[in-house]
Amino acid sequence: MLASLQTVLITPRIIIKSLSFVRILFVTSEAYPLIKTGGLADVSGSLPAALRGLGADIRILIPGYQQVIDKLPDARPVAHIDNLPLIGAVTLMLAEMPDTGVPVYIIHCPSLYQRAGGPYLDASGRDWEDNPLRFGILSRVAAILSCRNSPLSDWIPDILHCNDWQSGLAPAYLHYMPDTHARSMISLHNLAFQGCYPAHWVERLWLPTESYQMHGLEYHHQLSFLKAGIYYADSITTVSPTYAREIQTSQYGFGLEGLLASRAHEIHGILNGIETQEWNPATDPYLVTQYDDRHLDNKNAVKNALQSQLGLSVNTETPLLGVVSRLTHQKGLDMFLSVAETVLQQGCQIALLGGGEAVLEQGFKALALLYPNQVSVNIGYNEPLSHQIMAGVDIFIMPSRFEPCGLNQMYGLRYGTPPVVTPTGGLADSVVDTNAETLRNGTATGFVMDAPAPGALLSSIEHALAYYRNQKSWRKIQRNGMRLDLGWAHSAQAYIALYQQLMGQ
Ligand code: ADP
Ligand code: GLC
Repeated sequence: MLASLQTVLITPRIIIKSLSFVRILFVTSEAYPLIKTGGLADVSGSLPAALRGLGADIRILIPGYQQVIDKLPDARPVAHIDNLPLIGAVTLMLAEMPDTGVPVYIIHCPSLYQRAGGPYLDASGRDWEDNPLRFGILSRVAAILSCRNSPLSDWIPDILHCNDWQSGLAPAYLHYMPDTHARSMISLHNLAFQGCYPAHWVERLWLPTESYQMHGLEYHHQLSFLKAGIYYADSITTVSPTYAREIQTSQYGFGLEGLLASRAHEIHGILNGIETQEWNPATDPYLVTQYDDRHLDNKNAVKNALQSQLGLSVNTETPLLGVVSRLTHQKGLDMFLSVAETVLQQGCQIALLGGGEAVLEQGFKALALLYPNQVSVNIGYNEPLSHQIMAGVDIFIMPSRFEPCGLNQMYGLRYGTPPVVTPTGGLADSVVDTNAETLRNGTATGFVMDAPAPGALLSSIEHALAYYRNQKSWRKIQRNGMRLDLGWAHSAQAYIALYQQLMGQ
């Protein structure tokens, strides 16, 4: 009687308490600060920490790339996992994430993961030939750990939370394993990458022949890791509500829209949060001086330092536009390149950091040669410079053709650097266009293009420049963005609610 009364009276506390018994295995192919190629790493570094803060018992599973091994010198072996396709066995190590202390399991298998190059590509930018095996093993280990006879008998997850194609086979393996325990979820960060491989990999990876069909993991006569995840996972999330709707259409579904639409009721769009300690202009150690929404003049000092460091003319009044991005079709920077000269003729400067498609790299490098005092182009990956650009520029340019969530526009908001974005995915969900009305009601935070087209980009940039010249309005837009709550609190709660719903099923 007393117990049930307590349950009624203090429901929130009861929920939080019971949460500590929810065990989640978060499977990812990259996690900041261990290894990062893009936003998935940021999310994998910060979401588990936020969930842990809410009381969840969450652990990460990641391949033991050389970079990961180097950053976790205290990792210790905890299990031997055998009976794996083609490679036989691996050792499972356990360590803690730097800074957050979230436990992380590392798959130690030097022949698969410890080599010079990136997590997905070799030094010359080609996919590792054995990627289906490398990520097939990640998926299979994840599924093995989610069964009752897991070698980790003292920690068996209730939820197997997979991310993108690299762990997409895990829900399929789990589906066919006897004695499973966990319910599975897949988070879709980007449908453009699907992990499709020749059909002979079905047998090589010990997937049941019967799974290789349209109602399974076959996709246009290939094995699709991502389709496997979407088909077999008990629940699906995407990283913004708008992207959750978009992927059910042929324009954004990359051929998977039919399957996704058939699972519409199990798709949940949860907007990513950002790590607000790491991305905080008031404490950012990469900046010459720190600032917040009440000391925006200090941002000028950061801007001048950036201009000087990049070899641009040092001038506070000159509008400085920034880009930090993968240079791919997705990000729409070809549109920026095509209007860049017009923008430069209006007296702007451009600071770009990124890498990717050769034609874009060359195009921006050529622009920098033509306008050395106005354009700085850094090709490559550079964490400190990404913070300095985010803080030092006036306007952040992000004209993505599609953007599942996008983190950079949120970093821009937090750094008082209003973004210019396309009306898609997480960009549409996180940036409010500036006009007389939104300026008056205090919601204006950036500039949303009418369409993903060069003309629309140019007019949004010109729109932004008009406001930039009016210091009072500009400060308002900056402060509106800086005062937004962009952290994980809200979204982490939404994941918890989903986990609980899954466990209750
Ligand atoms: P995506 O994951 O599609 O590339 P996001 O906006 O979600 O896009 O995340 C990109 C992340 O990668 C951000 O943290 C951004 O700062 C970082 N990033 C992208 N390119 C570079 C680069 N050249 N140097 C440093 N950081 C980069
Ligand atoms: C992907 C998407 C990006 C998203 C990130 C993290 O890389 O392209 O939009 O922010 O994943 O979810």
